[in-house]
Order: sequence, then C-alpha cells, then structure tokens
Amino acid sequence: MASSGSIPREFIDDLLLRVDIVDVINTRVPLKKKGREYSACCPFHNEKTPSFTVSPTKQFYHCFGCGAHGTAISFLMDYDHQDFVEAIETLAESIGVTVPREGGKAPSAAQRQRSKDLYTLMSDAGEFYQIKLKSSQKAIDYLQSRELSSDIIKQFKLGYAPDGWNVLEKQFSQNYKRYTRQQLLDSGLLIHNEENNKIYDRYRDRIMFPIHNRKGQVIGFGGRVLGDGLPKYINSPETSLFHKGSELYGFYEARKYTQKLERIVVVEGYMDVIALAQFGVSYAVATLGTATTQEHIKLLFRAVPEIIFCFDGDRAGREAAWRAVENTLPIMQDGKEIRFLFLPEGEDPDTQIRKNGKAGFEASFETAASLSDYFVDALLQRFNISSSEGKARFLDEASKLLKLMPESLVKEQLLEKLSRLTSVPVATIRTHKQITRADDEPDHEFSRLSNREVKKTAIRYAITLLLFKPDLVQFVENMEQIALSDLPGSDLLTTLIETIQETPHINAAALLERWRGTEFEAAFSSLMKWRPESDDQDILEAEFRDCLRRIEKNATVLKIEQLLHKERTEGLLDQEKRDLLELLNMR
Ligand code: CTP
Ligand code: MN
Repeated sequence: MASSGSIPREFIDDLLLRVDIVDVINTRVPLKKKGREYSACCPFHNEKTPSFTVSPTKQFYHCFGCGAHGTAISFLMDYDHQDFVEAIETLAESIGVTVPREGGKAPSAAQRQRSKDLYTLMSDAGEFYQIKLKSSQKAIDYLQSRELSSDIIKQFKLGYAPDGWNVLEKQFSQNYKRYTRQQLLDSGLLIHNEENNKIYDRYRDRIMFPIHNRKGQVIGFGGRVLGDGLPKYINSPETSLFHKGSELYGFYEARKYTQKLERIVVVEGYMDVIALAQFGVSYAVATLGTATTQEHIKLLFRAVPEIIFCFDGDRAGREAAWRAVENTLPIMQDGKEIRFLFLPEGEDPDTQIRKNGKAGFEASFETAASLSDYFVDALLQRFNISSSEGKARFLDEASKLLKLMPESLVKEQLLEKLSRLTSVPVATIRTHKQITRADDEPDHEFSRLSNREVKKTAIRYAITLLLFKPDLVQFVENMEQIALSDLPGSDLLTTLIETIQETPHINAAALLERWRGTEFEAAFSSLMKWRPESDDQDILEAEFRDCLRRIEKNATVLKIEQLLHKERTEGLLDQEKRDLLELLNMR
C-alpha cells in the first residue's frame, strides 16, 4: 500500500475539491444525468440496467448492484488498477498541477523531506538491529532455539535491539547527526514518558522483526522478548509511515519470494509467517496485532483470488475469523474465495509446519471451511434452530449479514444453504427478511433515511448531514458532551467534527480519503450512501440542530442509566451521586 503520508494531506484535500469526479468517470465510462446524480451501467460488474450512480455534491460514486463505491481516487485505483500515488498523479495531471515533491512549494517540499528522512531513519534502524544481532550470542541462541535457519533470518532481515535504555538514541545522535530527537520520536523508535519526562528506546533486549511496505521500505518493527517475559511483542505505534489497518507483515516478502502468487494464507503471528517461509510456504502474511480489516482484504484480493485464514481453534481465533467474515462480506465477489482453517488447540502454523512439512500443511487446506460453511457453522454454534424461536433468531442474524453482501453466486449459495437448513424457502428468506440490500431497491437513487431510522440514530444522521454539507459544523456547540458520551458512533462523529473544524473547506470525498485504511473507513463509506431529505440550506440546518439536541438528550439518558446501574451494583462515589442528582434535575 502506498503510504498516504508521503503526499501532503492538504494537497489531497485540495485536489479533491478541484477535480470533478463526474469528468474523471465520464471519460472512462460515459455517464447520463439523472436528477441530481449521474448514472451508468456499472463498470465493476455485469449488468443491463444502470445501477452505478455518481453524486457531484459528495464527489462520490456508488453501485447499488455490486456495492462498489468511493472517491475519484478509488475509481482510478479500481478501474485503471492504479495504486494510490499513481491515482493522485493522474488526477493532478488532469488539472495541470504537479504533485509536490522535492523542489515543489516550500511547505510541501519540507514535508516530503521529513517523510523521506523517516524512511531512511527506519532503514538505518533496521540495519543497526541486524548488526547488533550478529554480535549478540544470547539473541543468536534464542533464534536457534526457535529453529530458524540463517537464510530465513537474512531473508526477513531479523535483528536484535540491545539491552539498555538509550542504546539506539545514543548511537543515532552520535553517528547519525542528521536525525533529530523529534524524528526519532516521530518514528516510534523512542518513547517519551510524560510522567517523568524521560525519553528512552522503545525496544530493549528484543528480537526485531522489520515490517516492510509494498515497496520494501521499512515502516515499522515488531519486537519479541527473548523468552517468557511480558509483553511478548511490542509493535511500532501508528506513525506517518505505518498504518496497521492497511499493512500486513510478510506481504512484501511473499510477493518477492513467491514465483507465482496464487493464494495467500493469513496467520496470526510474525513467527508463523517466518516458519512457514522457511519450510517453503512463502505466501503467508500476518496482521499486526489487530483484526483483519476490510482494507487488508481488499489489498490481498488485488494480488490473489484466494485467501485462506489460518487461525487458532480457540475462542480468540474464532472471534478473529468471524471479524474477517464480517469485513469480507461487503466486498465479496464471484471469482474471489476465502476459506478458514482452524488449528487444533495449542498449535499454531509454526508448530504445524515443523511437524507436517510443506506438503502436510498445504494438504490441510483441503479441509479448510468455505465461507458459506463457516458462516453457517458459526451461527449454528450460537443459535439452536430446533426450536422455532431459535430458528427465527438464526435467520434474523444471518440476514443481517447477508444484507451487507452484493448479489453474487456465493450469496445465492448461502441463501440456499440457509433454506435447506431451516426449511424456509429462499424467496421467503429474501422477502421476509428483506435481505436484498437496502440500496439495491429499484429506484436506484441514493437512499433516503426514513424518519423512523433517523429517530433511532441521531448520530448517524448527523454524520450523514455533515458529509453532505461539512459547513454545518458551525452549529456544533456541545462538542465535549458528544466526545465524552458512550453513545455508539460518538467517536466517529467527534473525529468528523474535529477534522472539518481543522480544514473548513474540505469536501466529502477528501474526508473519506482521510480515513482510507483506518477503522473508521467502512462506517463512513456506508454513511456516504445516505442522502438527506432535502438540500435546502434552512432545512438541513434545522435537521442538524435537531440531531444535536437529540444526541445531547440521548447522552444524558445513557449517563443516567449507567449511574443508576452502578448505584445498584457497586454503589456510587459522592461525586457520582451529585452528578446523578444534577442530571435527573436537568431532565
Ligand atoms: N501480538 C502482539 N502483542 C502481544 C502478543 C501478540 O502484537 N503482546 C501479536 C503479534 O503480532 C504476534 C501475534 O499477535 O505475532 C500472535 O501472538 P502469539 O500467538 O502469542 O505469538 P506467536 O506469533 O505464536 O509468537 P511465538 O511463537 O514467538 O510465541
Ligand atoms: Mn507461536
């Protein structure tokens, strides 16, 4: 994944204000004007009647048939198979501006220089750790005890961070004068402890696993303790180079060392990726101590048609698998395949491949569950369908998820499977549970929120309104209350408000681009599809104010409920008692 940090944010924001997505798409896929929007037959799936819609207001496209959606940047990535940076360059060229690099405008050149330095710094650090490994018998012994070959240690550029609080800091300020302390902090290699105001090395006495981006640049590290200490792993924090949600450990190595990449195995750990590679399964990757995101899956699907998730059979592994399912459903297409392999208790791919070898490990893929098998099995674990009530809840839950899926053969197969299991006809499941995606409805317009739904989710509607008209942000007065509330979605709304306040002229497409690859991306993309009832300024303003009032009220009610609950269970502190009384008076 090309890092979005290497091009100034402001440049991308500005670019998305200046290009028109309608032009960008129209030169590739001719569009027809239809009301306030434009439409065409979707270029991303086969169809006879147009369900691909482009909104000039939001600078956003969405296909009601297959679910494809995004900004002008995503369109070029998906339609022209460009990467992120190439897409930006194409757009910049189309309006005759150059993407700031060295020699560009002063601030952006400085910014680019900074990130260039950061890449060099990370690569220097990687080399430093590699050198230190050579001279540490203790670290070498540890790697030997883990039975890693010296070839594989070189291939994955493993290293060792020496014991001591300021080893890296001293080394890098003596020999690498060009790095400032700030850069070392920005890179995540040093930590600033605010409590005692001390600065020290993040990684001490640990085996170091460099994390590479698609181009092979070092963007982060994982550090493992040599033995049983805790924490077992320390990972780089999010930095301008490193975004966990869109990076995978071993992806660069898999592409580099696999002749013809046809499938990818997703495993849980660094050591798993490396052990598999040592035994010839060079196509494994691991997420970086996070769940599998939609961005990860998209990235993998661009490289291969088949993903096999290989997780522990324990509860954590099953939960991780379920998260992967939820994140895959909305982007599942025919021709793509995901499967699940659960390992016996106490085993991981590292131990398995050592026992069974490459052939044995690959043979176990044959027993991996398909998406539809796993989907149904997992739900059957949760609901007992021998009672009619359990069956209803089972179908209810299944249809909630199916609703996320674009129409496809896989979806059809799933429906048939559910139908066989419950003896409810496919057509009934479809209509009664309304599993056709809400946005697949025939009028092919950007969906409107019904009043009922608006009432239920004031936060979601407020987000929708802000995406549609970012300058509504001026009416936000109770920011702190939103931020402090535990209402679902309040973090999303707070992030959105803060971003618009910082960059007042931003548009919806630029906002969406900011969250590319983050945990917020999916939620914002799905809210992009909604459209307010009216585009009259006064009505929008009134609706927005109304949302804010409702959020405030909901936050108060929730707080009261929480305090009352605490009063019943563990009792309240004096301050909490006063808070509760005050809140009750307020109502
Ligand atoms: N992990 C982490 N932080 C921890 C523990 C684990 O980020 N404190 C992540 C790491 O990416 C790790 C993965 O979760 O690789 C799997 O953890 P675990 O199964 O405990 O480690 P293994 O990879 O099996 O490592 P090892 O074989 O060295 O014990
Ligand atoms: Mn392990």
